[in-house]
Amino acid sequence: MCGIVGYIGNRDVKEVLLNGLSKLEYRGYDSAGIALKTDDEISIFKENGRLDKLAKKVEKINLPSQMGIGHTRWATHGKPSEINAHPHFNKNKTIAVVHNGIIENYLELKNELIKEGYKFITETDTEVLAHLLDKYYEGDAKKTLMDISKVIRGSYAICAMFNDEADTLYCMKKDSPLIIGKGEKDAKENFIASDIPAILEYTKEVYILEDNEIGVLTKKDVTIYDTLGNEKDKPITKVTWTMESAEKGGYEHYMLKEMHEQPHTVRDTLNGRLSNSSDNITFENANLDINEFNKIYIVACGTAFHAGLIGKYLIEKLVRIPIFTDVSSEFRYRDPIIDDKTLVIAISQSGETADTLAAIRLAKERKAKTLGIVNVIGSSIDRECDYTIHTCAGPEIAVASTKAYTAQVICMYLLSVYIAKEKNLMQEDDFNTFKCAMLKLSSQIEEVLAKEDYIKDIVKKYIKAKNVFYIGRGMDYYVAKEGSLKLKEIAYLHSESYQAGELKHGPIALMESATLVVGIVLDEDLIEKTKSNLKEVKARGAKIVVITEEGLDMSDITDDVIYIPKTEWAFTSVLANIPQQMIAYYFATLLGNDVDKPRNLAKSVTVE
Ligand code: M6R
Repeated sequence: MCGIVGYIGNRDVKEVLLNGLSKLEYRGYDSAGIALKTDDEISIFKENGRLDKLAKKVEKINLPSQMGIGHTRWATHGKPSEINAHPHFNKNKTIAVVHNGIIENYLELKNELIKEGYKFITETDTEVLAHLLDKYYEGDAKKTLMDISKVIRGSYAICAMFNDEADTLYCMKKDSPLIIGKGEKDAKENFIASDIPAILEYTKEVYILEDNEIGVLTKKDVTIYDTLGNEKDKPITKVTWTMESAEKGGYEHYMLKEMHEQPHTVRDTLNGRLSNSSDNITFENANLDINEFNKIYIVACGTAFHAGLIGKYLIEKLVRIPIFTDVSSEFRYRDPIIDDKTLVIAISQSGETADTLAAIRLAKERKAKTLGIVNVIGSSIDRECDYTIHTCAGPEIAVASTKAYTAQVICMYLLSVYIAKEKNLMQEDDFNTFKCAMLKLSSQIEEVLAKEDYIKDIVKKYIKAKNVFYIGRGMDYYVAKEGSLKLKEIAYLHSESYQAGELKHGPIALMESATLVVGIVLDEDLIEKTKSNLKEVKARGAKIVVITEEGLDMSDITDDVIYIPKTEWAFTSVLANIPQQMIAYYFATLLGNDVDKPRNLAKSVTVE
């Protein structure tokens, strides 16, 4: 949720921290702060609001520092404010700490610390860490971290500096991601970050910290310990992302850039798994024997859940077995009926979503096998699942998920065909037809993206809409759910998705001239039925935009038709969603919203 950067070395520490935080701002952006260590003291600078306010505040600060920590905050305990922003100090201002996650027993600890004379000045859970570090510190910072790891409960990525230890930076993690970047050979510098883009400009070699590991960084060395103090020998991970792929690349917004990357995303996600010469689908890390299972659950949150629904639809159609789906926050508390014959598929872009992580942990406790469909390699869900399929979308920075969803849906296509093949339910001819269709999707997405100006003009016509309904039947309804979520998320417009046939059971009462209805009309068996539902809303004065396949006549319903290229029935969902992304994007930009950082939202939801 929040972002952490730490640096020790000879560069301008303030600049490295601010630059790193700017790459992490998408993770949480209600306030920000940095701490700089000089020879004899630690100085903290914080601001409520965006990072540029903090940058302005410290513009003229020029401290001789070789070590610092920084943080962007997305409030969980205590409102967004300067005082609640990190870093936090201990009472004598000799220890500074930043933290991502939640200390679950902070109230209990806070009460004990107050009894011992500690004074709290913020509403945050993190301040208990500053005072605990103070309480346990007796000249050995590593031991202090080991000690506090025994008393705190919850999730944490912590980075701390001690005034007495002028040339060492410390970090520790549990259930919240943290990496250490190793400075290039002879550079005499090292980095800490909660996410790769923050330090990508400086290094491509990272240690991905596991839970209960402590990192100790000097300019020259990185040493990693477990919380018993044993030194660990950890492998370095080479990051293959380029800085270019993590930045905007000339587009006005990350979201727009990421939408335009989708043809590439599809190619990358298919690459190595399906090609013209394939007679089956191969997954590199997932040698799962699908015949071991008699039940499949798909769990995820938000957009990832919508990708899961597409998976459910396809597997049920192709394999004729029931697939259970649940949003992770429901699944984890539902006492789900699962056992060692169940496969639980968890879909997540970040691989850190707290509810999805909890869902797979529950599944594992109950002996189910887990398969992660994950974008961020090395993330918690990636590491903890028994099997993983990576979505290969590259870094997704915009809060609104676009290319990651597309990659997730492609993985759902691959997985459903894979299962059908494994169960001998797909004939060679059908496989070849599907294969050709999947291999064409990338260029077909390009065709849809080329309609950008046309779609923008349609949005201009309906910019005054007060309510927007997305309707469809069958798989089209699942696509509609994603269209509606995207619009809510970034355009802040009231929107609902509905099964087209359900409208007359209530929501049709809301149809009037300020209502816009986006109809997804692709399921060939249900086209006439959805069209007649659209006629019903048209008769009540609502405005209509239709997304359908080339060649279908919608002129009796509306002139505003967005055509997608013809594909096999199974693969319309990925193409139909591209115009939905564009609709949301242009509503949001024309309404003047901050598309990449929509209000109240964070990219990675690492708290429940
Ligand atoms: O990282 P995840 O895929 O697990 O995230 C799940 C949701 O939080 C995410 O899809 C959210 O709904 C997006 N902001 C949607 O655009």
